[in-house]
Amino acid sequence: MSGAHLNEVYPTLPYKPVSGAGVYLEDADGRRVLDLYGGHAVAGLGYGHPRLTEAVVNQAQQLMFQSNAVTMRVRDEAADKLAAFAPDGLERVFFVNSGAEANENALRLALQATGRGKIVAMEHAFHGRTAAAGAISWNSRDRWYGFPQTPFDVEFVPRNDEAALAAAVDSDTAAVIIEPVQGVAGAFDFAASFMQATRSACDAAGALLILDEVQTGVGRLGKPFGADFFNVTPDLLTTAKALGGGFPCGAVIMRAELAADLQPGALGSTFGGGPLACAAIVAVLDTIAEYDLLAQVTEVSARIADTCTFGHVTGIQGAGFLLGLRTAQRAALVRNALLEHNILAGTSSDPYILRLLPALILESKHVDSLAEALKEIGDETLQ
Ligand SMILES: Cc1ncc(COP(=O)(O)O)c(C=O)c1O
Repeated sequence: MSGAHLNEVYPTLPYKPVSGAGVYLEDADGRRVLDLYGGHAVAGLGYGHPRLTEAVVNQAQQLMFQSNAVTMRVRDEAADKLAAFAPDGLERVFFVNSGAEANENALRLALQATGRGKIVAMEHAFHGRTAAAGAISWNSRDRWYGFPQTPFDVEFVPRNDEAALAAAVDSDTAAVIIEPVQGVAGAFDFAASFMQATRSACDAAGALLILDEVQTGVGRLGKPFGADFFNVTPDLLTTAKALGGGFPCGAVIMRAELAADLQPGALGSTFGGGPLACAAIVAVLDTIAEYDLLAQVTEVSARIADTCTFGHVTGIQGAGFLLGLRTAQRAALVRNALLEHNILAGTSSDPYILRLLPALILESKHVDSLAEALKEIGDETLQ
């Protein structure tokens, strides 16, 4: 068990968890770490949540897999609940397996529906690593894209620049795609006025609006989706990460008119909408509602903002539980120091932003542990 056969494409942390309970991870030596990063925003209900675990175990015992060639009650239930959770006007669900796959399908739908060839994206955006999703991820061509060309024309617009956006969205534009709060970029939150101007620019040009809610979705901002947070209804919304609470899955949620044009065979996925994923989705959405986790996110997020801006942390951006803590020294150094104090946080593509993506079940007492650890680290120069 050396790990020597894994491709070394991921920088790894000096901590090897073997189990988790609630918001804590534990390694083989019994060292417990408070996880404020949630495995890149996936562990929305934390670890070992009884309801989620039971739902997946029961479904595994009942029927581990069947494809979309047969109708399944659990798939219908997951789609009904997800459509009810999504903003009004988004009624039809197509299940996939990941965030990139959701975006890939949403982009294809937008290009086909409009018959146009250009996608407008935001500078610093991250949408995934497949051919289409990577094409609209900022700087990917210089860093990792690898494909000889992008599958459509792409124009990037500076964040919050309404004039540049209005100029870019024209009669060739199939869609604008935007993360309501840019996750990988360090929890950069767009101005509400810019989000609304984006909707208006799309309407004026006959382009579609895609919200990439792979990271912001499923309650992370203290609302069901970022669309609700910014009061902007997209034509297509993509989500993944916390949707299955750790079970891999994603979804494209769309307006009924877009779905109405789709013929059998227009979209497809072997594993998308599999029963285990759907059982997990139902459990996640039910748990959020039952425990009023959206209100908890808003309340506990405010406590982070109120009590954790000192020492190495000079400011906080983002919303809900997608927060970027601006650090006076490199965020990776602060992250390492926090881990020595048994707190796991993440970094971002901004070297001076530490990213927090905790589970929706995080409580005030856990924030107090973060504040305490930040106090212990002090504001000395970190190595
Ligand atoms: C906003 C956003 N979109 C898409 C993706 C890609 O998701 P996945 O890694 O599940 O393909 C990510 C992943 O970090 C993301 O943050």
